[in-house]
Amino acid sequence: MKLSLVLGALTAFAVGATALVSFADGRRNVIVKNETTKTECSACHMAYSPSFLPKESWQAIMGNLENHFGEDASLDPAQTAEIEAYLSLNAANWRSVSNPPPLRITELRWFRGEHGNRTRKRAQSNANIGSMSNCQGCHRGADRGWFDDD
Ligand code: HEC
Ligand code: HEC
Repeated sequence: MKLSLVLGALTAFAVGATALVSFADGRRNVIVKNETTKTECSACHMAYSPSFLPKESWQAIMGNLENHFGEDASLDPAQTAEIEAYLSLNAANWRSVSNPPPLRITELRWFRGEHGNRTRKRAQSNANIGSMSNCQGCHRGADRGWFDDD
């Protein structure tokens, strides 16, 4: 009994460690493969990788597309359901998610750590970039999952 508990804990640890490693890779490598998501979610900005946010975030975003960061991004119910399912299935696997969940990648702690004040100023002052949400303004390969080109 005790031994199996220990083994269980070790397995959980190993699974957690694997998830961490694949998240680090995932930031770079998980590109949007679902056609509906690729088309509908790249009309105003690039289609963000599902691996940047947990499924709670994607569900909150997909549940309120008519009030989407000041825009109406609503779709028909079938498309909404398909995209929500795709994003949720490929979402980041966080140990705990705040309630309400984060809606922006650009406000996550790792993102703010990676993008300091100088980078933020550059985004605001350059009309071709505009905001930190415009990943491709700085990472030309962002839609192909490349972010270490800068
Ligand atoms: C009608 C235009 C439009 C469409 C279509 C659209 N978005 Fe957005 N989205 C926006 C705007 C505007 C912002 C805010 C950008 C900014 O702050 O510079 C945004 C921001 C986001 C953000 C947060 C980015 C950040 O700052 O971290 C996510 C995530 C997002 N959208 C997901 C989606 C998904 C998923 C879809 C497809 C279902 C979608 N968007 C379709 C206009 C759109
Ligand atoms: C104004 C320019 C700018 C914008 C916009 C921007 N980034 Fe970055 N990003 C950078 C810079 C510069 C670095 C490199 C930081 C360093 O070298 O320490 C970076 C680093 C990164 C890294 C780490 C890369 C690595 O290999 O360590 C990731 C991941 C990333 N950005 C994702 C994003 C995403 C996702 C978006 C859009 C939501 C975004 N970035 C928008 C400038 C930008």
